Amino acid sequence: GMTAQFDTDIITLPRFLLESQRTQTHSTGEFTLLLNSLGFAFKFISQTIRKAELVHFSGLAGTNNTTGDAQKKLDVLGDEIFINAMKSSGNVKVLVSEEQEDLIIFPTSQGTYAVCCDPIDGSSNLDAGVSVGTIVSIFRLKPGSTGSIQDVLRGGTEMVGACYAMYGASTHLLLTTGNGVDGFTLDNNIGEFILVYPELRLPPHNPIYSINEGNSYYWKEEVKSFIEKLKLPQANGKPFSARYVGSMVADMHRTFMYGGLFAYPGDRKSSSGKLRLLYEAFPMSFLVEQAGGIAVNDRGERILDLKPEHIHDKSSIWLGSKEDVGMYLQHIGKSL
Ligand code: AHG
Ligand code: MN
Ligand code: MN
Ligand code: MN
Repeated sequence: GMTAQFDTDIITLPRFLLESQRTQTHSTGEFTLLLNSLGFAFKFISQTIRKAELVHFSGLAGTNNTTGDAQKKLDVLGDEIFINAMKSSGNVKVLVSEEQEDLIIFPTSQGTYAVCCDPIDGSSNLDAGVSVGTIVSIFRLKPGSTGSIQDVLRGGTEMVGACYAMYGASTHLLLTTGNGVDGFTLDNNIGEFILVYPELRLPPHNPIYSINEGNSYYWKEEVKSFIEKLKLPQANGKPFSARYVGSMVADMHRTFMYGGLFAYPGDRKSSSGKLRLLYEAFPMSFLVEQAGGIAVNDRGERILDLKPEHIHDKSSIWLGSKEDVGMYLQHIGKSL
């Protein structure tokens, strides 16, 4: 077969963004600059996480965030890194962070974008050395806006971009600006994200389900019965396989690479589940749909059609391959 070729014409993130900018009419280059600033933030956070234990920055910060999560030192550090990268980009006017109770508006910025972020996703896994990530959604300020809460309490379809970085064996970046999904891997020696998965598509099916079964006592009947159905032999005579990392970015990166379905349903404790709309459900749903998958809530409603009332609003979520999430929709008598 083909031997591996040495690639002498690699596409870095900056080159990829410049080439895609040239295809956009009337582009001002602002969006390109913002995405490059995001790439910097991911590289800085990646390096910080990989040395944290060595500089005694593992463990808890001793504080809680608005949604009640106990903050890890790296949650706070990642948040500061991200805020400073967005402030210094000059392109961001409004910022929402999981680790900030209120909206941040950069008073002197002339930026025309609003960014929502989960600086460290899966932080409960940090001290176990398990992959974590950063998740970002991007909105353009509303016409005439000088920066307010109205720029982020928007429908998911108003997003102009979404991306995540996963800090695993390699540092991966998946990005969409509404024209499909492209995947990059960080070359630590060059210090650049390199295009590895152009026009990435979700496999239409893979018998993998990813859910925290520890919550099953609290699930609604239809969720329980659906998951039980996946444990029975399917058409191919085999049941689904279970995979659950507990970091959404890691569970979703596996889903983008292999296919299958990921769910964080509501339950009797919390009808909207645990994942936040603006900086977890929205960006992951935009990426999933742009890669040919489905993203709905427990009631089968399209995630991107939802609209938050508060910046830390949560939503139940079913995400992944068309056929597998389609099975859930069929189970609850819905179709997309
Ligand atoms: P975060 O670390 O940003 O607060 O997010 C944690 C989320 C998400 O990463 C993951 O899918 C989910 O929490 C896991 O929750 P459970 O431990 O309840 O399964
Ligand atoms: Mn958290
Ligand atoms: Mn998270
Ligand atoms: Mn987080």
